Amino acid sequence: MSKDKLIQKDLKNIWHPFTQMKTAKPPIFIKRGEKEFLYDQKDNEYIDGVSSWWVNTHGHSHPYIAKKIHQQLLTLEHVIFAGFTHRPAIELSERILNYLPHQDKVFFSDNGSTAVEVGIKMAIQYFYNQNIKKNTIIALEGAYHGDTIGAMSAGADDSFNIPFKEYMFKVERVPSPTKDKKKEAITLLKKIVKEKSVCCFIYEPLIQGSGGMIMHDKDTLNEMIKFCKKNNIICIADEVMTGFYRTGKMFASDYMKHKPDIMCLSKGLTGGTLPLSLTTCNQKIYDAFLSDDKMKTFFHGHSFTGNPIGCTAALASLDLFEKKKTLKNINRIVKSHQKFSAKIKKHGLVKNLRQQGTVLAFEINTQENTSYFNNIRDQIYDFFINEKVLLRPLGNVIYIMPPYCISKISLQTLYSKVEKALNYFEKI
Ligand SMILES: Cc1ncc(COP(=O)(O)O)c(C=O)c1O
Repeated sequence: MSKDKLIQKDLKNIWHPFTQMKTAKPPIFIKRGEKEFLYDQKDNEYIDGVSSWWVNTHGHSHPYIAKKIHQQLLTLEHVIFAGFTHRPAIELSERILNYLPHQDKVFFSDNGSTAVEVGIKMAIQYFYNQNIKKNTIIALEGAYHGDTIGAMSAGADDSFNIPFKEYMFKVERVPSPTKDKKKEAITLLKKIVKEKSVCCFIYEPLIQGSGGMIMHDKDTLNEMIKFCKKNNIICIADEVMTGFYRTGKMFASDYMKHKPDIMCLSKGLTGGTLPLSLTTCNQKIYDAFLSDDKMKTFFHGHSFTGNPIGCTAALASLDLFEKKKTLKNINRIVKSHQKFSAKIKKHGLVKNLRQQGTVLAFEINTQENTSYFNNIRDQIYDFFINEKVLLRPLGNVIYIMPPYCISKISLQTLYSKVEKALNYFEKI
């Protein structure tokens, strides 16, 4: 079937995510992917500068991950995970916990949103099981934790959520601990804790991705976690985006002395190959669910919980992370971003340039406020697509978050396209 016919069928049958289907241009048909590249039907090559919604770590269609998945598919594709278990899940839990010495148990689900739902539910039931009444949830302003109702409730109080507001649970919000809001963040946190009975504090450590790559002062965040833990508040680190070296270390929580009680992992977990997520917790949380009373069980699970193929992809991805070359690539990207930042920081359109590890972000200075709905967004996105690079600004926030295997040349191409865009939009 020709590409045009396929696109017609897409337009007829498919409802795409985060897309206004009335006004959106037809989607780009991608035939195949390899390393940092995506190829359309005419073999145009696009550089994936956002790791396909931040999931891809080792490049597209990685042959090693593909081989491992294939072997697993021929062995065991899936089995119910209540009352049954299997090797890939057992191995994965052990290997992940080795990276997280402050965590003791692993709960499986399918995506970032469900990992967050699980984390919040664990925190709520942790107190419920002990007959302790604590019902306030604290989140950060500008947070994004996913699109299911619980994850949305903990997310920013913004336009995405308006139709659902009356169905969402109430959350207290504190400013993100950015360099210019260190004091406000701590002060408000302390005030809420004094006045309310706080159950948990959920945060995206160091980088709030969808909120516009908001970057934290790590000492302030560390202080906030320390304060919460001292006050018997469960700390939930949503590392769905920041995990797997996005911030330069395996986990953003590795930068901090004070560790979360619960962690949510997904996206890079399988190298970006298959949907899988983990919610880990420490022994204290787990123990509160152990009882002869069945009602203290954690009644949560999904049909595909602990899927063996997903677990195998995650194990293969960990194999690749444990190769020296991957860490070398990550360090190369970090240094390369630093050099590029120095080059563009004085450009008239560049505002609030910031970097944390492999993530580089800045705002395009426009007459409008910084926002997901800033009008320049679509023009810049189209500009980049015409230049054959996939960079997907969050409103007027441009960011680069490539797969770690990206070559020096491709990274330089991404930078040069960003500079080209800056020079172009400065003139209009
Ligand atoms: C920090 C964070 N948490 C949760 C999610 C939700 O993940 P998913 O889209 O896999 O449901 C995202 C997605 O971007 C995220 O960035």
